[in-house]
Amino acid sequence: MTVADVPTLSYDPFTTNDPDERYAQYRELRAAGPVVHLSYVGVYATGRYDEVKAALGEHDTFISGEGVGFNDIANDVVRGSTLGSDSPEHEVLRGVVATGLQPRAMRARHDEIAEIARGVVGTALARGDVDGVAHLAQAMPTAVVPDILGLPDRHRDELITWAKGGTDLLGPVNERTPRNAELSGCISQFAVELVEGREFAPGSLGDQVLSAADRGEIAPEKCVILMNDYLGPSMETTATAIGHLLVLFAQHPEQWEALRAQPGLVGSAINEVLRFQSPVRGFTRVARRDTALGGILIPAGARLWTVVASANRDERHWNNPDVFDFRRNPIDHLAFGYGSHGCAGQGVARLEMHALIHALLDSVERFELTAAPVVAPNSMLNTWDSVPLRLVPRGE
Ligand code: HEM
Repeated sequence: MTVADVPTLSYDPFTTNDPDERYAQYRELRAAGPVVHLSYVGVYATGRYDEVKAALGEHDTFISGEGVGFNDIANDVVRGSTLGSDSPEHEVLRGVVATGLQPRAMRARHDEIAEIARGVVGTALARGDVDGVAHLAQAMPTAVVPDILGLPDRHRDELITWAKGGTDLLGPVNERTPRNAELSGCISQFAVELVEGREFAPGSLGDQVLSAADRGEIAPEKCVILMNDYLGPSMETTATAIGHLLVLFAQHPEQWEALRAQPGLVGSAINEVLRFQSPVRGFTRVARRDTALGGILIPAGARLWTVVASANRDERHWNNPDVFDFRRNPIDHLAFGYGSHGCAGQGVARLEMHALIHALLDSVERFELTAAPVVAPNSMLNTWDSVPLRLVPRGE
């Protein structure tokens, strides 16, 4: 195999939080080559669909066990978790984490989650003018996920803030890092309390983690780490996706109208929202050995950023990638990652989004943005701090 020189880009992709600017940078990244060296950050990066998918699929070559972030503090936190482990440990941890998240277990919760969604939408409609982030996007996972995990009542409203900080912590060190480390510490401390006090509701996912340790399937000290695996990525990611959903349908009222006429396409709409505005920008891997990706050598020990948000707009893979069209049904998007580390909780996220969209279709004629959405500073997520919205009820 001939191995080409790696192109270099010198910009810092972590200074802007604006989605449009980030997508413009991704275009530059893809144009520069299949794999690029980002000299400012000191990592390799791939933003093209084929190479991102190939790298995520080769989990024995591009490993997660050295952490999936950009700095040692965060990588130390993640190391040894499901997210931050490799075969064979990863299979064991993933087996425990994923068991309670199987589609069958999730389907059993369908009616309950639909009811929660109707309640969330009803409360928001009664307000009329809402912050789409607080009153819809965050309200949904905050009402759903803690019960699935079997958490006690305390700290429920803080979990999203903690997780947002914990995810941002994975980016390069910046002025937010000390605060993010504190917030990430809150998640870990809460996980310790829950495990030591065996505080989980019977039959919940938390309870299943304790049982797996009781049966000797995992070491007892892994319980806290696995609870971190649940608490970290399970709420803010979904809230982010719902925030984008609201903005996109507010910006495309004709598509909201069309979706109401074709409610069978709600699943397609969810995939398109996730493709078009991927909540997670992309995690990193470390090359275990010298490896060619897209014909470019990545040396052993180098860190590679797999930019799934860019892959989901790669013009080599998608027709008109910068056009949002809920009918597209891009089932092969990479917003949930790909391969052995692909999102273990996507069934929950999809169920929540499904239930919320149906509740909104039933009662909301259209959404109107009453001011520009405010982007959240976050190195790893593409997310909003607030989405000022007017909900226009049906029949008005
Ligand atoms: C729209 C919502 C969500 C998005 C966009 C999302 C995205 C992702 C992505 C991109 C990964 C891959 C990480 C990697 O490749 O290193 C991942 C992994 C993971 N996600 Fe999600 N996620 C979402 C919701 C959830 C929920 C609701 C849960 C739990 C209930 C969850 C639990 C996990 C876990 C445990 C992993 C680690 C899997 C492993 O390493 O084997 N996620 N997620």
